[in-house]
Amino acid sequence: MKVLVVGGGGREHALVWKLAQSPLISRMWCAPGNAGIATERLAANDSPVELVPIGAKDLPALLDFAREKRVDFTIVAPDDPLALGIVDLFEANGLKTWGPNQKAARFESSKAFSQDFMDRYGIPTAKSGTFSDPAEAKQFAATLDGCCAVKADGLALGKGVLLTGNVADAEKAIDEIMVDQSFGTAGSQVVIQELLEGMEVSLHALCDGKTAKLFPTAQDHKRALDDDEGLNTGGMGTYSPAPFLSEKELNEVGLQIIVPWLKGCIEEGIDFKGILYPGLMLTAGGPKVLEFNARFGDPETQVYLPRLKNDLVELLLAGTEGRLGQVDLEWSPQVAVCVVMASGGYPGDYPKGIPISGLETAATLPDTKVFHAGTKLRDGQVVTNGGRVLGVTAWRDDLKAAREAAYAAVEKISFENAHFRRDIAAKALK
Ligand code: AMP
Ligand code: GLY
Repeated sequence: MKVLVVGGGGREHALVWKLAQSPLISRMWCAPGNAGIATERLAANDSPVELVPIGAKDLPALLDFAREKRVDFTIVAPDDPLALGIVDLFEANGLKTWGPNQKAARFESSKAFSQDFMDRYGIPTAKSGTFSDPAEAKQFAATLDGCCAVKADGLALGKGVLLTGNVADAEKAIDEIMVDQSFGTAGSQVVIQELLEGMEVSLHALCDGKTAKLFPTAQDHKRALDDDEGLNTGGMGTYSPAPFLSEKELNEVGLQIIVPWLKGCIEEGIDFKGILYPGLMLTAGGPKVLEFNARFGDPETQVYLPRLKNDLVELLLAGTEGRLGQVDLEWSPQVAVCVVMASGGYPGDYPKGIPISGLETAATLPDTKVFHAGTKLRDGQVVTNGGRVLGVTAWRDDLKAAREAAYAAVEKISFENAHFRRDIAAKALK
């Protein structure tokens, strides 16, 4: 089978690495990919994964490529092309494609849609309101004493959420998103949620439109600095499983969230095929959904896939073809930890093109994988090419060992002004 993966970050490297282990894949491309993805080889015939210099949002060029190469199965990882309707476009051209269609991708591309949907189907979430008038938004924020999460409705690179603790800051945040349009038109509507307290956990459910299968738990670390200080980022590190929900509690969460969500999808004619990724807050009043994403998490994927025993392409095909009911997900009991190494300055401005050393040494470590995110090859040298540069991942029998192994690999790698958190998974050891 010939497979095209769309995207070029750490999540896509993890997907490509796992897909390449399948005996079913004879050729694989990744658009646009990165330097790490280009080093992967297929288990079936040892051929390299080929990079295609087409951006993930360039739908017409991707379509031309997939038709020309007669791609059998396209796997779309990032939110932008999904929101732009890549799945609808490819399917209309007879190309088998994994990921939610445009209507289903609205769970991520519109926070207002998601919030209304949760309220309609009784899915536990924060108290909230949706506004297109800043004055009304401010009135609502005042009823929460300014303790709120102010969220741009549309996609904003994971940065369109401002957390505030008093009325003045809430008003400032509303003006920043709605009046100054710091996140562009994504902010013409805002969702304002009450500020929830508790432990955050990521869930993933693979869906085929009729059936949803929950993954184990994972936990991301969104803030840039240790002890959850600093600005929000795309995610600075993950581990799986997260010990804050027992198996029994995870099943209960499935019943409270995934079951009514799927029922709502079916009632409203939303054919959701792909990953639903709810961000949860475990509050004193029970688990509540902060947001829905409609794709694999990054860097959650980097800790899920080393634990997944199934053939990934078989699983995604079952998701696309509506056969998930016949498939059991199998997970290794091992714990995986991923530490993100980022460019100095991220999530603000940062330089690119800095040489990275130590990758060969890190590659010799057992049960360890350095997933590339923002990297590229320049004259045979791997250099930085983004904010999040590497996702250094290790898996072991227990969390302490996995954490030590991930940090031991980080120590082997260096580039100028590399920044990483030193407390990934530390909460779980307390
Ligand atoms: P989101 O993109 O909606 O997941 O928000 C980004 C981050 O903001 C989340 O990972 C949380 O850490 C935080 N956050 C979002 N909504 C809330 C909320 N209602 N209460 C507290 N923290 C929140
Ligand atoms: N882990 C954060 C995200 O994928 O949005």
